[in-house]
Amino acid sequence: MVLYMCGIIGYVGKDENSLEALLEGLSALEYRGYDSAGIAAFDCAGRLRTVKDVGRVSGIKEAALEIGASACGIGHTRWATHGAPSKENSHPHGTDRLQLVHNGIIENYAHLKKELTELGYSFYSDTDTEVAAKLLDYYYMRSGRRFEAVCETIKRLTGSYALGIVFSDDPDTIYAARKDSPLIIGIGDGEAYIASDVTAFLRRTRDYYRLEDGDVAKISARSIEIYNGGKKVTREKLTAKWDHESAEKGGYDHFMLKEIHEESEAVVKTLRPRIKDMLPDFSDDELNESMLKHITRLYIVACGTAMHAGLIGRAVFEGHAKLPVSVEIASEFRYNDPILSENDLVVVVSQSGETADSLAALRLAKQKGAQTLAIVNVIGSSIAKEAHSVLYTWAGPEIAVASTKAYSVQAALLTLLAIRCAILRGEMNELSAREFVRELYEDAPRAINEVLERVDHIKACAERLYKSEDMFFIGRGTDYALSCEGSLKLKEISYIHSEAYAAGELKHGTISLITEGIPVVALATVSSLHAKMLSNIREVRSRGAVLTLITNGESEEADMVIRLPEISERVSFLPTATVLQLLAYYTSVFRGCDIDKPRNLAKSVTVE
Ligand code: M6R
Repeated sequence: MVLYMCGIIGYVGKDENSLEALLEGLSALEYRGYDSAGIAAFDCAGRLRTVKDVGRVSGIKEAALEIGASACGIGHTRWATHGAPSKENSHPHGTDRLQLVHNGIIENYAHLKKELTELGYSFYSDTDTEVAAKLLDYYYMRSGRRFEAVCETIKRLTGSYALGIVFSDDPDTIYAARKDSPLIIGIGDGEAYIASDVTAFLRRTRDYYRLEDGDVAKISARSIEIYNGGKKVTREKLTAKWDHESAEKGGYDHFMLKEIHEESEAVVKTLRPRIKDMLPDFSDDELNESMLKHITRLYIVACGTAMHAGLIGRAVFEGHAKLPVSVEIASEFRYNDPILSENDLVVVVSQSGETADSLAALRLAKQKGAQTLAIVNVIGSSIAKEAHSVLYTWAGPEIAVASTKAYSVQAALLTLLAIRCAILRGEMNELSAREFVRELYEDAPRAINEVLERVDHIKACAERLYKSEDMFFIGRGTDYALSCEGSLKLKEISYIHSEAYAAGELKHGTISLITEGIPVVALATVSSLHAKMLSNIREVRSRGAVLTLITNGESEEADMVIRLPEISERVSFLPTATVLQLLAYYTSVFRGCDIDKPRNLAKSVTVE
């Protein structure tokens, strides 16, 4: 599993093909990032020309085609990591002598930038990539040798990178290098490609080499040479099995399924930069920690799935940091005239960072004098820009309308923040915090993957449920929070009417709807509440409910049992969410629904 951040394409071959191949490749790679796009290609006079802009690939198409007949070029579609989406930050980056595209993160870019500044270089963007390009320029200036300059450059880079490079004085060659970011070389007939994945050139060739870490390649229409550690190496020729339509989803039938499979890595990528010595550390985020220590109340404000992640957050903040928390639906909060002061922190959670109600709630909170913090997945989005502080989740692009990996990273990040808050407020010692962080960072991603390995059983459960027209999810505590998300996921993509109920609340009215054959999904992952849940399970079973039990305990009587992997209860919300997402996904598959684009819904709700 790879977490995608940007897409790279390169083409070298015939005059008439380059721009078409580059644009086609970029469109296929747009799922990896879609906040800006760019191309550097040689025109028929051998001049290297660059076109780039914020927005989708379609936005640069006209200007790119003006380059005319071209036999060689590179392109990039970006998911911003360093620097907001802007024309200046878009790739390719470089100088008069070269242009470069990059996927990954150069971790030592600040240090290199300082060094290059002292050598006289100036910078037009906020990106780590421009630093890599200028470093390459420096080595090329010094030696006059292209391949050697590439090798010298990558020796200095720490972090991850897939690089595609063209030099202005060599219109027939693309240079490529990789470490910890995917890069492959497509083999055509008198043509060659580089790409982040096979989807980019699948309409043109299925044969390719996969570069390995440390590989540097020199690619022309006639030859592909790959080196590692100064020695020429051969890589196995692979043949893609996918057709180009399914391949854009990385071989998965739907983006939703692909994104569920990216979950564990998204959680790790979100937490990793904020964990030092197995303790939460938000110093790189420049978080105002004294505020976390002194606030008297926390509000988590969001919509839909993001709000459900807030319900998980509340349990951890209240349970461990002993801080009172209100979780608010943004569209309600904004009109409820909330009582806020500078002692309150309002955390706005949003995948897109553009949800109209969440943005309005944020503005209101600021206006009323509260501190604000955004937890957002899209760099430079409105909510990220307007909040006093921002913590980015690193889920990568989420394309399916049904949010999956974004929920997991939001809940995981809120948990890490709550642990930090508990330490700051003297409610948790470092020893306990380390154990909690370890469970979250190491055990939970592993448990998510174990759920994915047992997918056939979840699929079999979905097959028994998919013909229902009504369904209930019940749970207590965090299981109720998870029930809300499981129910939302199911209804939005399968169109089955579904409700989530706090299990103890059922007998106050709703149990009248439980009759023979009604499916009930019961969550029992909180051991202190097991006995209570068991009573609720018996109540619905005795009224004829078809029971699916999701549990980490001994199986109570149920028609279907989905057992969670061994994991601490404190972080079992992560694998449980994966189970619920898969249950909703396969139920919808059996119903033949348009899973990635459910009716009436849009990915980003920018209107009220
Ligand atoms: O981009 P946001 O996280 O602010 O979006 C909030 C909701 O619109 C979103 O979570 C929605 O509920 C999802 N479609 C649910 O899967």
